[in-house]
Amino acid sequence: MYNFLTGPGLWLSIGICLIGLLVRGVMYVKGLNWQVDRVAYTAYPKAGIKGAARSIFFWLLPFGTRSWRAQPFMALLFYTFHIGVICVPLFLEAHHMILQEKIGFSFFITLNQKLADILSWGVIISAVFLVLRRIALPEVRILTTAYDYFILFLSSAPFITGMICRYELGNESFWLPAHIISGEMLLIAIPFTKLSHILLFFMSRAQLGMDFGIKRGGMKGKGLAW
Ligand code: HEM
Ligand code: HEM
Repeated sequence: MYNFLTGPGLWLSIGICLIGLLVRGVMYVKGLNWQVDRVAYTAYPKAGIKGAARSIFFWLLPFGTRSWRAQPFMALLFYTFHIGVICVPLFLEAHHMILQEKIGFSFFITLNQKLADILSWGVIISAVFLVLRRIALPEVRILTTAYDYFILFLSSAPFITGMICRYELGNESFWLPAHIISGEMLLIAIPFTKLSHILLFFMSRAQLGMDFGIKRGGMKGKGLAW
């Protein structure tokens, strides 16, 4: 079971995730239409690229945009959750070893155990609060469906099972495969669900940033026909 999960299972899940994201990215670009979107993508590339980079940068920066500053508690939850969900799978020592051994590629930085624990607890605790936020705030509750809880559960499951293995809270011959299955299910789900935001966040922010960089302010008063 372990050999299957860390052999073909690992290749398949990483492959589906990466190829799937590539397809989603290509589909996104192919779906762009300057007339329908009313964004002069190719006409003013310099202003467009500047606007796109600016938008991505400030949205990635903690409290970098007015919307982040308007909701500091949400921003804190969001960044605690995301720093963990991005760094732990990529840089955990145990993952580094498996990736190196099975795929022959890993990132050269690894997290020390203490930092990995802190980041993992951060994910689990902030996921609980992200759920509570969806229940407590009427403006978020009205937009929430079971699908949103499912995605939060799918994203936190590898952390719950990973921590059970880490603290040896259960039978390893059950919890380690359970951990790997939950991790691989997450990877496979990425291109097919709203988890595709891992890539599409950058694409849609670039698109909106281009719109602001070119038309809405960026080139205002500089002879732009629109
Ligand atoms: C896809 C294949 C994966 C494999 C083969 C794998 C394997 C492992 C192994 C061997 C451990 C060490 C368990 C121990 O200490 O006994 C571990 C821990 C962990 N993994 Fe994974 N994992 C995978 C995916 C993921 C994913 C996708 C995530 C998160 C999104 C994740 C999060 C964690 C966490 C949070 C821990 C415990 C961290 C800590 O030590 O503080 N894993 N994993
Ligand atoms: C570079 C990578 C990523 C970026 C830029 C990113 C960005 C975002 C953004 C902008 C949101 C919306 C926040 C809002 O509601 O205002 C979000 C939500 C979310 N992201 Fe990510 N994300 C990334 C990676 C990930 C990964 C790797 C996972 C899980 C494995 C993940 C899981 C989630 C979940 C579950 C939500 C919904 C949270 C909720 O229910 O409130 N993200 N992300």
